[in-house]
Formats: sequence, structure tokens, C-alpha cells
Amino acid sequence: MASRMSSDPRDARELLAFYMAAGVDAMLGEAPVDRMADEPIAVPPAQTDKPPATPREDSAGDGPVREYFQERRRPDPAVQSERKAAPPLPAPDVAATAAREAAKSAATLDDLRALLEGFTGCALRATATRLVFADGNPAARVMFVGEAPGYEEDLSGRPFVGPSGKLLDRMMEAIGLDRASAYIANVVPWRPPGNRTPTPQETAICLPFIRRQIELADPDILVCLGQPSTQTLLGTREGITRTRGRWFKYDTGSREIRALATLHPAYLLRQPLQKRLAWRDFLALKKALAG
Ligand code: URA
Repeated sequence: MASRMSSDPRDARELLAFYMAAGVDAMLGEAPVDRMADEPIAVPPAQTDKPPATPREDSAGDGPVREYFQERRRPDPAVQSERKAAPPLPAPDVAATAAREAAKSAATLDDLRALLEGFTGCALRATATRLVFADGNPAARVMFVGEAPGYEEDLSGRPFVGPSGKLLDRMMEAIGLDRASAYIANVVPWRPPGNRTPTPQETAICLPFIRRQIELADPDILVCLGQPSTQTLLGTREGITRTRGRWFKYDTGSREIRALATLHPAYLLRQPLQKRLAWRDFLALKKALAG
């Protein structure tokens, strides 16, 4: 059964919003192709000096397809020269070394945020809308750290403001905390396209920054939300079902503090029955903060 493309502009807007949410950040051609049409639709030839290559057919990755792609995306020579001027991404180990050096040099959280704003070593920065540095009170005794921002966080620049953030707010409220009495950040401060998991290289590049952020905020208690944050910050390979509810020691670089692993609110939204485990963890957190 063939389906026809809708001509309603609202549908087009919804489709574009869906593409953005899914992390699509480039187009392969300017002319739309209705792949659901009964008959092949002729695509007008590109207005370039070169004979256009057929997208994908001659694709070994670089070479002609890449050139074609750049050609089609070059309407404005000023933009193109800006693009050419952009430095190539460094190799991940070089970027991680640069991140370590830069993070060390930050004397305050404001310095660190400014450094991250200008840091080009992580590819995620190019696809994210904005840096998601932190929310809440940096002077708080407790700091929560998640994995990476999602769609709403990317748009607002604040961590945990989407559905899982709303649940986190309710969980904090249940033990008398809010964003004035807690500090919140992520291991990776840029949204991975389509909410994919950050790669180990991306995480390694961002790690010195979150470590320095924890050291500068200097909380008494660190709470790792979910497995990626727990494994990355607490250096364990064990799964979150084994580590949740457990207290770890965390060396901030200046002193040793306590760290608690718990389930990620996004997981709790998918598995509401597990909230009773998270509730136990939050009660333990409340007790520790009172102690
Ligand atoms: N999930 C995270 O780990 N962090 C956020 O900021 C939002 C969702």
C-alpha cells in the first residue's frame, strides 16, 4: 500500500521536530524525495558547476559523496569559509589530555563553565544546542550527577528539567530537598544526538571536567544517578542493581567524601516498581545528611 506525503505544513513541522529530537543534524539533499510514491519522482539536477554525484551510490564515505554533500550545503561563501576555518577535532586521547589540563586550571565553577563553553575537543558540542553545566545551589551539601542531558535539557541549558528531572524533583522533595539545597550536573554536559549513550571516548574527554566540578562544588555527599554515572565516577564495573544503595568513598582531589549510587529517574519512569528501591536509597541519603 502506497502512502502519500501530506501537504499540510503542520505535518512538515512535526516531522522536522521529530528529526531534531532524533539527532538529525544534516541533510543529504535540498530536494525532497518521496520514497513512498508509486512512481519515481524526478529530482531536478543540482545547480552546481560539477556534475552532481548520486547520493550514496558512489559512497566510500569520503571522496565524491562527501564533496557533493559539501557542495550542496554551500549556499553562502562566508559560512563556508567559517566552516573551513573550524579546527578539526583532536584525537580522543589528545582531547582528554587537553580537558585534564583545562579543568585543572579552573579556579572557580564560573571559570570551569567558561572553559567548557569554549572547549572544542568533544564532538558532542557541535550537535548540542547548548552547554548544560549545572543547576541548583553549588554550596549545597549534596550533589546529584546524571549521565548526559536530554532533549529538554539541551534546549533550556539546565540539567534534569524533562520528565526524569520532574521525577527527581519529587524524589528530592520527599526527603526535604529542592534545587536550593542540592546541586545537579551530568558526567557529559552536552546532549548526545538522539539521546544516544555517550561513547567511552566522549565520556573520557568530559570526565576531567565533572571531576573538577565536584571538587570545586565540594559537596559532603555525591549521589550518582544511574549506572553510567556510578561506573564513571566511582570506578566500578558492577551493574547498578548491585551497586545501588551502596556507599562508596569518593576522592574529590581535595578530600574524601561519601558517594551513594542509586537508580536513574529515567529508569524509574520505565520501571515504576523499582521506585521502592530508590526510596530506600533516598531515605539513607536523608539519614546521612542529618547525621
Ligand atoms: N538524564 C540525565 O542523565 N541527565 C539529565 O540532565 C536529564 C536526563
